[in-house]
Amino acid sequence: MSGSSADGRGFGAPIQLEEIVQAAEALRTGGLVVFPTETVYGLGASAFDATAVRRVFEAKGRPADNPLIVHLADISDLSRVTEHPPEVASLLFERFSPGPLTLVLPRSSRVPAAVSAGLPTVAVRIPSHPVARELIRLAGVPVAAPSANRSGRPSPTDLETARQDLGDRVAVYLDGGPCEVGLESTVVRIAAGAASVEVLREGAVTREMLSEVLGVTVDAAGGSSNPPVSAAESPGTRHAHYMPRARVIPFEGAFPGPEQDRATAPVALLRIGNAPEMEYLDIALLRRFGSVEEYARSLYRVFREADEEGCTRIYAELPPPRGIGRALRDRIFRASGLENDENFSI
Ligand code: TXA
Ligand code: MG
Repeated sequence: MSGSSADGRGFGAPIQLEEIVQAAEALRTGGLVVFPTETVYGLGASAFDATAVRRVFEAKGRPADNPLIVHLADISDLSRVTEHPPEVASLLFERFSPGPLTLVLPRSSRVPAAVSAGLPTVAVRIPSHPVARELIRLAGVPVAAPSANRSGRPSPTDLETARQDLGDRVAVYLDGGPCEVGLESTVVRIAAGAASVEVLREGAVTREMLSEVLGVTVDAAGGSSNPPVSAAESPGTRHAHYMPRARVIPFEGAFPGPEQDRATAPVALLRIGNAPEMEYLDIALLRRFGSVEEYARSLYRVFREADEEGCTRIYAELPPPRGIGRALRDRIFRASGLENDENFSI
């Protein structure tokens, strides 16, 4: 990594083109590269190289039954990784790519089964971060990449965090500055045409945005208007996710302030806007977010800071369930060990 500033090519990051060229070469020859995207940092390998892909699972400590997302430089590369993608896939990619949208599509036989944990599908996304795009373009191969954290840890939204997690398990790190979105991409499954587009993971491309383009209501998989989704179809739901060491306690509206939490140990408090502090708590870390977007961008960073501060609990105010607020609620609930709003009670 070079500390010098941009080379004038507009990568928006402290990085030289030469570093991206070398990283692309590493990908082509079976190496692993940590690289920035607009959502979170990714741990990439050539999606056509089954051995390199296995190394990704090893470096992350990721269960082999949790598939990876394949990243493309351009929509025109879609035919390299999928077989007969439905028309609605092109419609959605034309509208939302490059950007934080992942589509689950029929997998081409060129993509090794290990990428998809043996599923007949492959998850595909076209990131918008200029460093990611240049890297994939120069590599000349699709790049399979999960988030660049050790399995079960919060996704890294800056390079140093990725480095702390993965260390010398990875040789090449590309710095693209802090991530703009801060939460992972929206994962969407398309079963049979526009009528069965379902969200498997909420993200910055919201249900509202998808619904508007498709002209139908888009729901979560297994949601009220959709049939239940099996663990095999949505493998990400099987595994523990986004867990800081501190216990995450979601709350909504009035602060719960359970009696037993009074000043026994330092806590972190994440709030939206200017609600009053809870003076009886020993607050080691207080963050007030001016917007839901800022909250989303900062969540994983703050989880890690709370751990560094030795906080035992993280009280996290829930945003309203609309727009990116849905993705943020989802990550807070998962980090708390609660599956979703339905199981939610303090
Ligand atoms: O924003 C992102 O998506 C980041 C950046 C690096 O692109 N990547 C990311 O990857 O979050 P990962 O591996 O941490 O999460 C991928 C999610 C998992 O929940 C996985 O189960 C799901 O996508 N997934 C991947 N392939 C799938 C498939 N064929 N069918 C269903 N779900 C799939
Ligand atoms: Mg991940």
